[in-house]
Amino acid sequence: MFKITLLPGDGIGPEVVDAAVKILKHVGERFNTEFELNTCLMGGSSYDVHGTPLTDEVISECYSSDAVFLGAVGGPKWEDLPHHLKPEAALLKIRKALGLYANLRPAKVYTPMLSYSSLKDEVLKGTDVMIVRELTGGIYFGQPRGYDDEKGFNTMIYTKEEVERIARTAFNLARVRGKRVTSVDKANVLEVSQFWRKVIIEVHKDYPDVELNHMYVDNAAMQIVRDPKQFDVLVTSNLFGDILSDIAAMITGSLGMLPSASLGAKYALYEPVHGSAPDIAGKNIANPIAAVSSLAMMLKYSFEMDKAAEIIEEAIEAVLNKGYRTKDIYKEGDKLVSTDQMTDKIIDEFERIFYNQAINVFTL
Ligand code: IPM
Ligand code: MN
Repeated sequence: MFKITLLPGDGIGPEVVDAAVKILKHVGERFNTEFELNTCLMGGSSYDVHGTPLTDEVISECYSSDAVFLGAVGGPKWEDLPHHLKPEAALLKIRKALGLYANLRPAKVYTPMLSYSSLKDEVLKGTDVMIVRELTGGIYFGQPRGYDDEKGFNTMIYTKEEVERIARTAFNLARVRGKRVTSVDKANVLEVSQFWRKVIIEVHKDYPDVELNHMYVDNAAMQIVRDPKQFDVLVTSNLFGDILSDIAAMITGSLGMLPSASLGAKYALYEPVHGSAPDIAGKNIANPIAAVSSLAMMLKYSFEMDKAAEIIEEAIEAVLNKGYRTKDIYKEGDKLVSTDQMTDKIIDEFERIFYNQAINVFTL
């Protein structure tokens, strides 16, 4: 039995979490696994009830779960609140509280989606990048920070321990992928980056089977759109990773397709990369694929259910192959479907692929 805390959040968050939960029910049945789900408030919806975007009770609940699954937080309703009460502050708080230092954001292109990106087919074809973003350090959390009438300031700081552990995450991932790591920094200007690079090189000594290169962040931004195939695993700091992962999202054609996993030594949280999209909330038109794909990451990284994760990914690809598209990725000639319909299509394919594989096993 696995215990999962659900944090649907705001905007389209609840709709896409619902979609993932529907699929999880089928996974549970087919793979004889029980999932205990507990839904809690986070973001604006928590602020409206408790006056804070994340309560200590919810954090305690996460501590006692095997994994956390988050929808999205934020919206115009809460934009004018003081910084620490904004829904986004809850995201930073939960990352820190659960020690989720490694943020994995894979950007790969589904073949049927090749022509949907703003980038050319031949540039994209075969692209499969894993961005490993450091998530609990750097300029997001560095002290001192603040502003007054005359100045504003933040501190970009990394300790040896912080760089070492994210480096290990990246090298270990590369070992089971393409065995190449690109470390992204700004070592031509920033001391913190010179230190980052030094530690990465040090840790690399334990991974002689993995190839390592370094790239300045401005160049990396350009290279991702020029020739994304050159990358396997990309490891970088919190702020640079935030920016580069949005750029990389265009590889998939829509932010509605990108999943993420945030991993720490003890806890793990999964969430779509997209935001709460308040303008389309409640209309049953949101793309559930990023959430469903995040669910696949949860099954793989937290529950070692690699087979179930694989079937979900195959099911998504099959549905896209058949031409079903939610509004964000719809083009003339496609079959336009709602959030619910897309979810049902993925379930149909999940069941079909599962049974085909089961039959193959029986007839061996
Ligand atoms: C993300 C988001 C967050 C971040 C914001 C909403 C705090 O952009 O998860 O990428 O900057 O980390
Ligand atoms: Mn971001």
